Amino acid sequence: MNLSNAIFIPGPTNLPERIRRAIDLPTVDHRSPNFASDLKAIFRQVQNILKTDNGQIFIFPATGTGGWEAAIANTLSRGDRVLACRHGVFSEKWIHLCQHFGLEVDVIECDWRGPANPDLIEAKLRSDPRGEIKAVLVTHNETATGVRSDISAVRQAIDSAGHSAMLFVDGVSSIASMDFEMDTWGVDIAVAGSQKGFMLPAGLAILGVSQKAIASGATADLPRFFFDFRQMMQTTSSGGFPYTPPMQLLAGLNESCKILLEEGLDAVASRHFFIAEGVRRAADAWNLEVCAHDRSFASDTVTTIFVPEGRDSNQLTLHLHQKYQMSFGVGLGQFAGQVFRIGHLGQLSIPNMLAGLATIEMAMRDLDYPINAGVGVAAAQEWYRIPISVKPAAGLLSECGVISDE
Ligand SMILES: Cc1ncc(COP(=O)(O)O)c(C=O)c1O
Repeated sequence: MNLSNAIFIPGPTNLPERIRRAIDLPTVDHRSPNFASDLKAIFRQVQNILKTDNGQIFIFPATGTGGWEAAIANTLSRGDRVLACRHGVFSEKWIHLCQHFGLEVDVIECDWRGPANPDLIEAKLRSDPRGEIKAVLVTHNETATGVRSDISAVRQAIDSAGHSAMLFVDGVSSIASMDFEMDTWGVDIAVAGSQKGFMLPAGLAILGVSQKAIASGATADLPRFFFDFRQMMQTTSSGGFPYTPPMQLLAGLNESCKILLEEGLDAVASRHFFIAEGVRRAADAWNLEVCAHDRSFASDTVTTIFVPEGRDSNQLTLHLHQKYQMSFGVGLGQFAGQVFRIGHLGQLSIPNMLAGLATIEMAMRDLDYPINAGVGVAAAQEWYRIPISVKPAAGLLSECGVISDE
């Protein structure tokens, strides 16, 4: 395997050099006084990234799945009702997790090529005048389908229904890459994972939790120990951790937050849009269908693309891996074998992205796909040549080579 090729799976992402250096640490004493102040600084930066003033930050040695579990185990009781849209494998998996914990899940079946449906959420909440539904679960960015949901519209749906349900959002593949506004959107729990927008190795579940969600923990009776918010808050507020913390990953998170905030969150989101749009234009030029029916909901971190009917997309991703040592995402769930996914989140330069598109193009031609040589790359190139008005970042933006007109 050629490890110098960029990786195009939708997380874990390529590791920026600054982060690799930050995590390359000798053993650090987690009971030293420095730890407490470092942790506070990390929490403050994560609050800025989630755009929350009062949301409490929790960081667990876990992954996004652990974040899902922490969200429900700390706020709900056995038999509680929750409402969730199913529109991809990740929203589906969170539903399964809730069911496993004995929650009653009202599932809204949505088109897997579209977002979570705020109208159906509102209708369902209106049919619950006694307020039995305790939480609405939404996956902001379905990594399987490359479709973004409108969290602000879901908040409006909850408010229009006059319902008191909390809003829990899986932002695993959106936070720190795409626009995310925890306070403005009234999100009660936001779940992220270190290996996506934060550009770290896997290993941290990162959560922002509203005071309302924390308060709901007083009566919640689902079993929790490792993920207990109470013991985590108690120990971190006095400068410790309830168990041995992953010091190197935390140092990496500190650096990652610095990189993101130096660039500016608007610039980070613009950069992701810019890179993603080039990929979508390449797909159009190949005459291949992007999974997102409505482009205004297309994800800026992953693009899911259908292969022509009768083809097996796994053959394409395997060929890319074996012949060109380049990794792309495979199709998941009901789209397995029908789609491939191009991950374009985190640190990724325009030349890297073009290399990825050129390599897919070669692989498709090797496999006799009906595409003309160079058309996808040319479409992306023309887009990438456009000067865009994103604020130039001190760090990543220049490293990424995003063109700036300033
Ligand atoms: C949207 C989304 N949610 C949850 C998860 C699960 O996260 P993890 O694999 O870190 O447990 C993923 C993983 O890719 C994801 O993309």
